[in-house]
Amino acid sequence: MKKEKVILTGDRPTGKLHIGHYVGSLKRRVELQNSGEFDKIFIMIADAQALTDNVDNPEKVRQNIIEVALDYLACGIDPAKTTIFIQSQIAELCELSFYYMNLVSVSRLQRNPTVKTEIQMRNFENNSIPVGFFTYPISQAADITAFKGTVVPVGEDQKPMLEQTNEIVRRFNHIYGETLIEPEILLPDNAACLRLPGLDGKAKMSKSLGNCIYLSETAEELQKKVKSMYTDPDHIRVEDPGKIEGNTVFTYLDAFCRPEHFERYLPEYANLDELKAHYQRGGLGDMKVKRFLGAIMEEELGPIRERRKELEKDIPAIYEMLRKGCETAREVAAETLSEVRSAMKINYFEDMSFIDEQAKRFQE
Ligand code: TRP
Repeated sequence: MKKEKVILTGDRPTGKLHIGHYVGSLKRRVELQNSGEFDKIFIMIADAQALTDNVDNPEKVRQNIIEVALDYLACGIDPAKTTIFIQSQIAELCELSFYYMNLVSVSRLQRNPTVKTEIQMRNFENNSIPVGFFTYPISQAADITAFKGTVVPVGEDQKPMLEQTNEIVRRFNHIYGETLIEPEILLPDNAACLRLPGLDGKAKMSKSLGNCIYLSETAEELQKKVKSMYTDPDHIRVEDPGKIEGNTVFTYLDAFCRPEHFERYLPEYANLDELKAHYQRGGLGDMKVKRFLGAIMEEELGPIRERRKELEKDIPAIYEMLRKGCETAREVAAETLSEVRSAMKINYFEDMSFIDEQAKRFQE
């Protein structure tokens, strides 16, 4: 049988999605969805994982499930082609995690770079790290393997999670026989998209740093944020030479700009290289570049914003779509769990030969 091609990916519902999510993975997911190359596609709203580090704020997670679902649909995720579901509704994931926990050591989790930085970022007191948080890479392995995901389109920060998953898969298959499938990570191909910086140019876009542009941003807010972006602090007068490296406006142009944008909005330049060269030479003001970026971003985000507004008119329909998605997802996860149980030979009551064997053992 030909190996099925299955996409499994997801996001934590801790806020509306921003353009870092969009260029880093959402846009790609829509292209993959529409490529027709995949047998199945699952996108999971990872509410249970979000609870691992939002213990004190479960309501935030609950409120943001619908925001994330709206963002998905607005970007072009189509429920007719992609199953969108909510993690906590798939109990099978917990059972898989429970078995996988035996295949991972505490020290291995401690060495997981994502867990490590998150522990530092969140400032957990040294010995008060919630066990659930500490073990979320294991639950993420359950998410991926339950759906037999072969391709996982995510941001670069998720690399350690995929490595962890593959180790679990190999260990499981080694002990219990070929059962689980090793997934492959699919990273964005454009370096700027890999780690889109925030408006301040400092770190990755993140809600807590307040440096995001959200997909649901109004047109005015979008332009205001673009105008406020960090550029080159030494580029004071228009005639000063400017730096491109670390200049957020140019990083965003790397992520969003296509040659046809010049014809439309800035015909005096043929392409981005020419624009960059002029900026470096001096004589090109920040505002002109920002206006160009603003026009490009409006072209990309405007239609998403409009679709989102339409979708917001019928929220119960979105929940109904999610309910159906959960149902479909549960069937698939249940199938995998049953294969896992039989590989582990803990399906005692379905295995008559096992009972016969046991019976004989006592007769001898
Ligand atoms: N860890 C991912 C994030 O932080 C969310 C997630 C949970 C996920 N389970 C997953 C992503 C499985 C890909 C595959 O956004």
